[in-house]
Amino acid sequence: MLQLDRISKVYKVGVLGGKDLTAVRDVSFEVAPGEVVSLIGESGSGKTTIGKMVLRLTSVSGGTITLDGVDVSTVKGGALKGYYRKVQGVFQDPFSSYNPIFKVDRVFAMLREAYFPGVGGAEWRHKIGASLEAVRLDPHQVLGKYPHQLSGGQLQRLLIARALLLDIRLLVADEIISMLDASTRIDVLNLLADLKARGLGILFITHDLSLGNYVSEKTVILRRGAVVEMGATERVFGNPLHSYTRKLLASVPQLHRRWEPFEAEPEVPDGQALVQVEDDHLVAGGVRG
Ligand SMILES: Nc1ncnc2c1ncn2[C@@H]1O[C@H](COP(=O)(O)OP(=O)(O)O)[C@@H](O)[C@H]1O
Ligand SMILES: [Mg+2]
Repeated sequence: MLQLDRISKVYKVGVLGGKDLTAVRDVSFEVAPGEVVSLIGESGSGKTTIGKMVLRLTSVSGGTITLDGVDVSTVKGGALKGYYRKVQGVFQDPFSSYNPIFKVDRVFAMLREAYFPGVGGAEWRHKIGASLEAVRLDPHQVLGKYPHQLSGGQLQRLLIARALLLDIRLLVADEIISMLDASTRIDVLNLLADLKARGLGILFITHDLSLGNYVSEKTVILRRGAVVEMGATERVFGNPLHSYTRKLLASVPQLHRRWEPFEAEPEVPDGQALVQVEDDHLVAGGVRG
């Protein structure tokens, strides 16, 4: 469904854009329907930039992104509206997606104006009810409220409900769990599992390895804009082969294991080609000797 083929992103930075910053280099992976793919890396590794390129919020400097075979960068004007019917993003800070002076219903009203001008009042209310039910929100508890009257988790789920009204096929979820408290986290994670069961593809962006492990069947590990290891989540987590992946895993607090001093491994340099080491498991530079 979604395919990234050797995409890169170069930002112009510095005085008058005189310097280049390569935020993403040569990244390739796919997201299939009903599949959750985790994009994992430290802050600054290029995760959000990749999400923004998929969402057409920033241009692609090299390579191609295709959705069902159509080059996303060629989608313009009216067709872009069609693209956003299929692909939507939800971001880390749900409060920033709402205007504090309007009731939260406004996100639905704006959607109706843009995409469903012909839909009558009763049908529209029914549609909203169904999408709120899908994200396990009680309409009476959220509609008619201002953003500050709702929790981060409720606002996050409202945004997902809004995306569901469009019958989207791909959700880009950028650090959507990070800001939520522990109890809401589980709800939103379970919600993602529901969406997946409905056949949605999800690009799940996180800096938190344990979240990635929990929700996804495929994992892409990013370091300084490049993929260092990727494949089936159980292979990447069960048999991590790149020194960076091992380092990330070692820094996750493990309750069931005693703390062990982390053995220093020689750092694999950037720019190594991905090598297939087993079925559905690729590692930059291949297996270390
Ligand atoms: N609009 C921008 N202009 C210039 N540099 C940017 C811009 N957005 C991000 N960057 C830089 O690109 C790199 C990757 O950023 P980002 O994609 O936000 O990483 P992440 O989401 O993994 O934390 C960082 O070095 C960041 O400073
Ligand atoms: Mg980010």
